[in-house]
Formats: sequence, C-alpha cells, structure tokens
Amino acid sequence: MLELSNVQAHYGKVHVLHGCSLKVNDGEAIGLLGRNGVGKTTALKTIMGLVPATAGNIAFNGTHLNKIPAHKIAGEGIGYVPQGRGIFPSLSVKENLEIGLAKAPEAETLEHVFARFPRLKERAGQSGGTLSGGEQQMLAIARCLILKPKLLILDEPTEGIMPILVQDIRKEIAAVNKTGVSILLVEQNIKTALKLCSRIYLMEKGAIVHEAATDELQEDKETLYRYLGVSV
Ligand SMILES: Nc1ncnc2c1ncn2[C@@H]1O[C@H](COP(=O)(O)OP(=O)(O)OP(=O)(O)O)[C@@H](O)[C@H]1O
Ligand SMILES: [Mg+2]
Repeated sequence: MLELSNVQAHYGKVHVLHGCSLKVNDGEAIGLLGRNGVGKTTALKTIMGLVPATAGNIAFNGTHLNKIPAHKIAGEGIGYVPQGRGIFPSLSVKENLEIGLAKAPEAETLEHVFARFPRLKERAGQSGGTLSGGEQQMLAIARCLILKPKLLILDEPTEGIMPILVQDIRKEIAAVNKTGVSILLVEQNIKTALKLCSRIYLMEKGAIVHEAATDELQEDKETLYRYLGVSV
C-alpha cells in the first residue's frame, strides 16, 4: 500500500535522508526505529509532503504522493499524528475533533468517536491544552480516525507519557490496526514497538540499515544494541 523507494530529503543544504526505502503492506503494523536525529520524523514528513522529497519515489495505493500537493495527501487516506501531537490547545476537545469534519462527508460521527474514547467524551468541553499528555495523544489519534484513514502514521505516540497510559495508547493502536488500518509507527519505546509491530525497520544516518520480523529482531540482541543502544 505504501512504498518509499530511495527517498532523499534536505533541509536547505543539509542532506538528511540518504535513500530511505520501506514498505507497508495492507493491514500491517510497521515500526521505524533508530537513535535520536537519524531522520525518522523527516521520513514521515516527506510522506505527508511537509518536507519535499528531493529524489526517489513515494507510492500510496498507486498514487505518487511526491507528485501531489501536501494538502491533498491526507485525503488519499493517510492519518498523521505528528511528534508532539499537534492538537489545538485553546480549542475544546469537541472543537479539535470537529476540525476537518465538514470537509469529509464520509467521516465518522462524533458520537462514534466518543463511544470509543470515553475519556474524551467526559472532557468534550475542556480545552485541549489542559488535557494530560496521554489524553492529548488520544485526542490526536481520535482526530485522525474520524477521517477513516487506511494508514495511520504515528510519530512517538508514547513520548513523555506515564507507563500506565502508555498501555492504554498501545491497546488503542492495536485496536485500530485490528480494524484493518495499517500502521506506520516511529517509537523510542522499544517494548511498544515490539508489541505492536510485525516488522521493524532500523534507520541510521537517514537510511534504512536493517529490516526484520519482530520475532527475529527480539532475539537479535547485537543488532538492537548496535542501532538502538538498548539491551532487552
Ligand atoms: N527544520 C529543520 N531544519 C534543519 N534541520 C533539521 C530540521 N528538522 C530536522 N533537522 C535535522 O535533521 C536531522 C533528522 O531529524 P529528525 O527530526 O528527522 O530526526 P528523528 O530521527 O526524528 O529524531 P528524534 O528521535 O530525536 O525525534 C537532525 O539532525 C535534525 O537536526
Ligand atoms: Mg523525531
């Protein structure tokens, strides 16, 4: 469904993505992991057209995303939850969810979303900025789901969130995946990535350096240590 082929990207003269190639198949949950600053967020931004790909190709269900304007990419069926969530802090929970609804006739109803996220229903009138970190993350995910994406891209959804809520978010992402939505997940929390994803790509210096099935990678302590600096 999504395929990046040798994608390159620059910030001005700084060359950040040096040929990133990866694939997400229908219904799959894929992890993209790597140390800080290797280019994970940049890779996601090139998919969404927020950073232009200077070379290579990004195909999504037959459409070349790098050839269409950024504002049309979400409409192709891709939900994107950016690092740091990107909700509107001064708008209420309900208003945050309503953004974009008017433009999407096929969208879920608010009631349906609230049934799924009762925590958000209880806080519908509260301004987004006063939600806890975990609740803001759920709001950001819920806002994407309203548009019924085929692929949900999440950039560090559990960053800075207390362990008990990390579990809730993990469960929510797993539930979304179960409904047939593909997931592309960038995570620092290796445990979350290993639990949710069936396949993992490891990135270093703007390129994919390793790809493995999650079961395989879990046993490959040397690779985990080499590219992520973790012992599991
Ligand atoms: N707007 C920008 N202008 C210039 N350089 C940038 C910009 N955004 C990111 N970079 C640089 O590009 C490189 C990759 O950044 P990116 O945010 O993609 O990394 P990351 O893998 O997501 O890191 P983290 O795990 O810390 O989120 C870094 O060296 C960063 O400093
Ligand atoms: Mg990042």
